[in-house]
Amino acid sequence: MRKQLLLPFLSLVLFFLCTKSFAQVAPAPPIRTDNITSILEKGGQFTTFIRLLKATQVADQLNNQLSTPDPNDGLTIFAPSDNAFSSLNPGTLNTLSDREKLQLVQFHILPTLMSTTQFQTASNPLRTQAGDVKSGRFPLNVTASGNQVNITTGVVNTTVANTVFSDRRIAVYQVDQVLLPLQIFGTTPAPAPAPAKPEKDVPVSTPKASTGDAGANSSGAIRNLKLHPMAMVSFQFALFGAIFCSL
Ligand SMILES: *[C@@H]1O[C@H](CO)[C@@H](O)[C@H](O)[C@H]1NC(C)=O
Ligand SMILES: *[C@@H]1O[C@H](CO)[C@@H](O)[C@H](O)[C@H]1NC(C)=O
Ligand SMILES: *[C@@H]1O[C@H](CO)[C@@H](O)[C@H](O)[C@H]1NC(C)=O
Ligand SMILES: *[C@@H]1O[C@H](CO)[C@@H](O)[C@H](O)[C@H]1NC(C)=O
Ligand SMILES: *[C@@H]1O[C@H](CO)[C@@H](O)[C@H](O)[C@H]1NC(C)=O
Repeated sequence: MRKQLLLPFLSLVLFFLCTKSFAQVAPAPPIRTDNITSILEKGGQFTTFIRLLKATQVADQLNNQLSTPDPNDGLTIFAPSDNAFSSLNPGTLNTLSDREKLQLVQFHILPTLMSTTQFQTASNPLRTQAGDVKSGRFPLNVTASGNQVNITTGVVNTTVANTVFSDRRIAVYQVDQVLLPLQIFGTTPAPAPAPAKPEKDVPVSTPKASTGDAGANSSGAIRNLKLHPMAMVSFQFALFGAIFCSL
């Protein structure tokens, strides 16, 4: 009888030891502060914006800027979340020419580092990397008081939702709407505020997300296994232990 209990007990111990070390050897990679993709990946919800930064090669340009020893005036980036992109009218991005996509991305980047307090004294309209701030072109207005930072493009009004990252050369702020410039979107009606169908051409899973899913799934599996007879439990725990230990 005792012998029969010993095996399940040992495999339980083995299982928990192994899962513990498994969790320890899989830390999230640190943010590379000279790499805009790495900074945005940390936020976990900027896959569409990252894709646009890469497609327009603005990512390379930003990384060059971030890796120069003297950061000059720094950078401020308004990063629209994936939800911001999926609440655009379906197909909005696909109707843009390459040049317009580039301008849209550049419109989210200020060629100076601005802290949230500096927004309070910003002189509008702000100049973005898209250039011309004349009425109807690429003006971006920011007003702030306290922690509230309002942004208007003349097409959309939104607020800074969150500071994703900031250091002495770059500040990245999350916005929950895509900043649509007048030059490109001024003549068309503003996008529907209600979340529309998400654009389907967006890459869905990030490595981070899938690690999380695997964890949820295996803990779910453990709960289910407890319902099985003891012998079965022991066998499956040993199997799990062996799999995890081999990783
Ligand atoms: C920037 O980071 C991303 C993801 O973390 C990585 O795939 C890419 O190779 C990095 N780029 C450079 C220039 O190091
Ligand atoms: C920001 O917008 C909100 C809502 O429109 C408004 O109540 C608030 O006064 C604005 N704040 C600033 C600093 O512009
Ligand atoms: C932005 O600010 C400028 C200067 O205050 C103003 O003339 C312009 O109308 C503003 N634009 C929008 C869309 O609020
Ligand atoms: C943005 O805010 C301005 C001033 O509060 C308002 O006149 C305008 O209608 C708003 N635009 C949108 C698209 O909500
Ligand atoms: C478990 O994994 C499957 C596919 O591997 C996935 O579809 C599902 O969402 C996961 N469930 C949880 C709770 O993570």
